[in-house]
Amino acid sequence: MSIQAETEPRRLIVGMTGASGAIYGVRLLQLLQQTDVETHLVLSKSAKITLAQELDIKVSDVLALADVVHQAENIGATISSGSFATMGMIIAPCSMRSMAEISSGATSSLVTRAADVVLKERRRLVLMVRETPLHLGHLRSMVAVTEMGGIVYPPVPAFYAKPSSIDQMVDQTLGRVLDLFAIKTDVVRRWEGLTPSKSRDQ
Ligand SMILES: Cc1cc2nc3c(=O)[nH]c(=O)nc-3n(C[C@H](O)[C@H](O)[C@H](O)COP(=O)(O)O)c2cc1C
Repeated sequence: MSIQAETEPRRLIVGMTGASGAIYGVRLLQLLQQTDVETHLVLSKSAKITLAQELDIKVSDVLALADVVHQAENIGATISSGSFATMGMIIAPCSMRSMAEISSGATSSLVTRAADVVLKERRRLVLMVRETPLHLGHLRSMVAVTEMGGIVYPPVPAFYAKPSSIDQMVDQTLGRVLDLFAIKTDVVRRWEGLTPSKSRDQ
């Protein structure tokens, strides 16, 4: 249902929030560096905390992976307006708090405002939500975001791809997310049917 904006340059907003899985945001930016896509990065305060907790990488090194960095408090940033053309936004990872804000439309930071703008402009919004187990409120937020045209994409590993490392598992998921924007990567092990001779171990 969403209409993909053809922008020149091709711009994609990447949001990172305080859910576990900072590696998804970092690796997403690295994958996008290998494309012609201009990345606009915005991190929530909590994203900086989970980043420090989960990865041996400085926030400044993450920011350096993006073409443009926006401060979460800067509600006047370009990505706060629908007139600034983008292909859409991926929030990787997406916390339940940020998803709840997006689902209600009552946004309090540039991360959720940018997502709100993407939805109102009928562009593509992908939320790589992470929490477990889920209560009814989480599930209701997911339904609301889906009804508004967003894509709820929990980073659940595809074991049929036989990942042999966390990096491969992460890349497989991110490659499939980028498929949703028709952004080509070479990291997806695509299913070729039940042919034993095509299994990667043979
Ligand atoms: C180490 C750590 C892991 C967390 N993991 C999650 C998580 O997986 N999912 C989630 O929704 N919140 C998680 N949180 C809590 C969020 O960071 C918290 O709700 C925060 O307010 C989210 O704010 P934000 O959406 O602005 O980033 C975690 C917090 C910490 C410190």
